[in-house]
Amino acid sequence: MAAKPKHFDFLVLGSGIAGVFFALKAAPRGRVAIVTKKHRAESNTNYAQGGIAAVTSKEDSIEMHVGDTLNAGAGLCKEEVVRRIIAEGPERVSELMALGMEFSEREVPGTSGRREYDLGKEGGHSKRRILHAKDATGRAVETALLNAVNIQPSVEWFENHFAIDLITTQKLGQSGPNRCLGVYVLNQMTGEVETFSANAVVLATGGCGKVYLYTTNPDIATGDGVAMAYRAGVDIANMEFIQFHPTCLYHPLAKSFLITEAVRGEGGVIKGLDGQEFMQSHHELGSLAPRDVVARAIDAEMKRTGSEFVHLDITHKPAPFIIDRFPTIYSKCLELGIDITKQPIPVVPAAHYQCGGVVTNIDGETSLCGLYAVGEVACTGLHGANRLASNSLLEALVCAHRAAGRALNTGGGELEIPPWQTGSANDADEMVVVSHNWDELRRTMWDYVGIVRTTKRLQRARKRIGVLQEEILQYYWDFNVTSDLLELRNIATVAELIVECALQRPESRGLHYTLDYPDADSNWAQKDTIVSNTRS
Ligand code: FAD
Ligand code: SIN
Repeated sequence: MAAKPKHFDFLVLGSGIAGVFFALKAAPRGRVAIVTKKHRAESNTNYAQGGIAAVTSKEDSIEMHVGDTLNAGAGLCKEEVVRRIIAEGPERVSELMALGMEFSEREVPGTSGRREYDLGKEGGHSKRRILHAKDATGRAVETALLNAVNIQPSVEWFENHFAIDLITTQKLGQSGPNRCLGVYVLNQMTGEVETFSANAVVLATGGCGKVYLYTTNPDIATGDGVAMAYRAGVDIANMEFIQFHPTCLYHPLAKSFLITEAVRGEGGVIKGLDGQEFMQSHHELGSLAPRDVVARAIDAEMKRTGSEFVHLDITHKPAPFIIDRFPTIYSKCLELGIDITKQPIPVVPAAHYQCGGVVTNIDGETSLCGLYAVGEVACTGLHGANRLASNSLLEALVCAHRAAGRALNTGGGELEIPPWQTGSANDADEMVVVSHNWDELRRTMWDYVGIVRTTKRLQRARKRIGVLQEEILQYYWDFNVTSDLLELRNIATVAELIVECALQRPESRGLHYTLDYPDADSNWAQKDTIVSNTRS
């Protein structure tokens, strides 16, 4: 017999910065479930290096941070959202510090021991404003948040639980306005699909880097939230704007290891394998130009020379400084035989961040009543066509706080929900279908929907993704679900959405660069690309 649905006031999907901060804010007001598909700390958040952008110095201002964000966003940011998030950022960061987060400090030069935040600099920022914990900011953030939430009696954890699909009144055939009632969740320890219901369901499932063959993201980043929302008929926007980070470590044994932009902020320089700098001929800011410019320039250099990587060189800085400022990167590279104080670091661009996502307002509200989305999964309008470095942790804090305030007023999620139907599905016979399609999909995206695009390549990708989707769907109906199959289905959906959005935009803007339309078109300034699933 199917187990009774578990009911909560707030059902949070994901345990990165957005999900856990939301849970902390909601905890005093009701019962909260956090459903997360692996161990609770496993998230993009946990691997963040550079830090959190927030105005804390007298030499900086909200206006300057707003200006830098709008510049990076290439005409597509929602200015009102940008202003509010940046203005509210410092208060949310203070709350994080009150929870135990410690940012790196330094002695103020010329004083005897006075301390101040050691603010970092990254591409596109006109001021030093990045608060960081050396080069492992995300781990420190995640630890502080988990320590705080773990002692909340109203928060219940469901680790190794994989959210499959949203349950809506429309899907259940009920009349009246559509609303979200809960989620079907695969308990990966028992193989059973459980039913969770809630007054407010919060997508905090992060991004989709794994859609691409090469990515800085950990394995959890398979775009599950976007795919679930799309299947439920919620609008998705601006998925063509995938940010490629210019400097992912190139080494056969290093899976997805980022070399933070802060290395360039501290003087690191991009060079070709011949030792020559080449960024100055692409942008006046050289190696610290905005990310899209640097990634495209590296891509062009690799294509020009036939090399598989370029170099990031910080060897001109004193070794003790490098080791103290970048201890994680120093040790990781040393483990792989690269002493970054003496040798340049081999790097390549890799998929890093999803600027589009589930359409929300600044309070995380989606078009589906009872469903909220916060963090990387959401498209609030902060990033526009290109995210300014270190603005995402900031956005997650501000929007999770606001969404928790808004979700307090969501009522009425407790309705009769039928259990998950397995029909006549069996256990899968050949997992090679899943692994083959997984590889083919990610390679297709890398080769045809990467840093530089053309309409022809996008159309090729669309065709291939369509064929793969048919096969995946057949497999999905025929066999019992596993997390690998669910992730494959989700990356295929997200791949489709990226291609559809890219084909909708006949111009180059921010992170979307196509040789067929190499310039920005003023008719497309301020226009989002929106995809809606009319089959829901
Ligand atoms: P995540 O932190 O990714 O959390 C998502 C959670 O959802 C995870 O717990 C995951 O297991 C869970 N989940 C996903 N799908 C399901 C499902 N189907 N069922 C159940 N659970 C699910 N940004 C900055 O601002 N500054 C930086 O310095 C910075 N550095 C970065 C470095 C790296 C290497 C990477 C990859 C990203 C970096 N970013 C940085 C981006 C930033 O880390 C992310 O945008 C941010 O952490 C996203 O937080 P989130 O809470 O939205 O998602
Ligand atoms: C980095 O540290 O380079 C990543 C920062 C970010 O993605 O915001």
